[in-house]
Amino acid sequence: MPVITCIDDLKRLHRRRTPRMFYDYCESGSYTEQTFRDNSADFGDLRFRQRVAVDMSDRTVKSTMLGQEVAMPVGLSPVGSTGMQRADGEIKAARAALKFGVPFTLSTMSICSIEAVAEAVRAPFWFQLYVMRDEEYVDDIIARAKRAAVSALVITLDLQILGQRHKDLKNGLSAPPRLTPRSIADMSWRVRWGLEMLGTRNRTFGNIVGHARNVGDLSSLASWTNEQFDPRLDWDKVARLRDKWGGKLILKGILDAEDAKEAVKVGADAIVVSNHGGRQLDGALSSIRVLPSIVRAVKGQTEIWLDGGIRTGQDILKALALGADATMIGRAYIHGLGAMGEAGVTKALEILRSEMDVTMALCGRRDIRDVGRDILLVPEGFEGRWEQPG
Ligand code: GLV
Repeated sequence: MPVITCIDDLKRLHRRRTPRMFYDYCESGSYTEQTFRDNSADFGDLRFRQRVAVDMSDRTVKSTMLGQEVAMPVGLSPVGSTGMQRADGEIKAARAALKFGVPFTLSTMSICSIEAVAEAVRAPFWFQLYVMRDEEYVDDIIARAKRAAVSALVITLDLQILGQRHKDLKNGLSAPPRLTPRSIADMSWRVRWGLEMLGTRNRTFGNIVGHARNVGDLSSLASWTNEQFDPRLDWDKVARLRDKWGGKLILKGILDAEDAKEAVKVGADAIVVSNHGGRQLDGALSSIRVLPSIVRAVKGQTEIWLDGGIRTGQDILKALALGADATMIGRAYIHGLGAMGEAGVTKALEILRSEMDVTMALCGRRDIRDVGRDILLVPEGFEGRWEQPG
């Protein structure tokens, strides 16, 4: 077993232990993957200010998200098909998050259903909603979320139509995987993955099967989005969903100051500055580059979280320093899950916390809530080259 010291180590193990189509699903962006790459690379344009001879004892990275105490300001983002990276993946990730003390978000496109996760973890979690054309289905899934004691609803606003991911088409991505000579050969190398999969009944989209009407080719995310997702989603509809839900509301996929203001108007308790991990609008700015303009526009009126590109605790610290109240991670914990199941998600969270804590201390801070822009060196033009409004 190799020594695991960073998220990249987990990524390598994930790649080795998971069938290609699911690893690729996680590790890809849309079209040319420019935004996918920029999300991580742009953190590299920011530098820290090293401070010395500062008392570094008694440090804390505890914070709050939606008024709840969290072990660190990092939530688990919704990720589709998590239960294909590892059997019962959503349950494993939710358990790890719960024990660690950070929020877990279940995707509409999860393999384990809301009910299966609720039954297994017996604690509140968040649920991410994709808005479908079928209003009855939407009403029903909101009611199911309420029954399962979901404590916040995340509405994803940036995926009403799907940005194409070339690898998914080339790999014939499907859940469960179709049995072709290539997929059988691929899976036969991943013995543990296969045995664990055989041991669970959660092998297709648990929130959809048996709940949505007229679902055609369920196995393909692309055909399913084309058929089912509502491309007419607008702010009025978001307001209607807010009223139907009646609880804490998080709006995910905000990448423009004007949209951030709309999200505040509609009453979002938090917004997630996100471009869907570079999986949708290829050519959009990275999340970290747009963050300052959104902070200027709505800081203090709603919680501002950032997701996209985070692979280290240093990345998290940079986002907080630029004004994010918290962050969300997707691939960073999926790599842990694919590498080592629940223990791998815990490992990913521990790595990020430790990196964040040490980096914060070396910047001369002891409390994550005191981290501000003055710990950073921000190069001229970091956000200005594109003349962002806001
Ligand atoms: C779904 O949310 C995806 O990005 O694949």
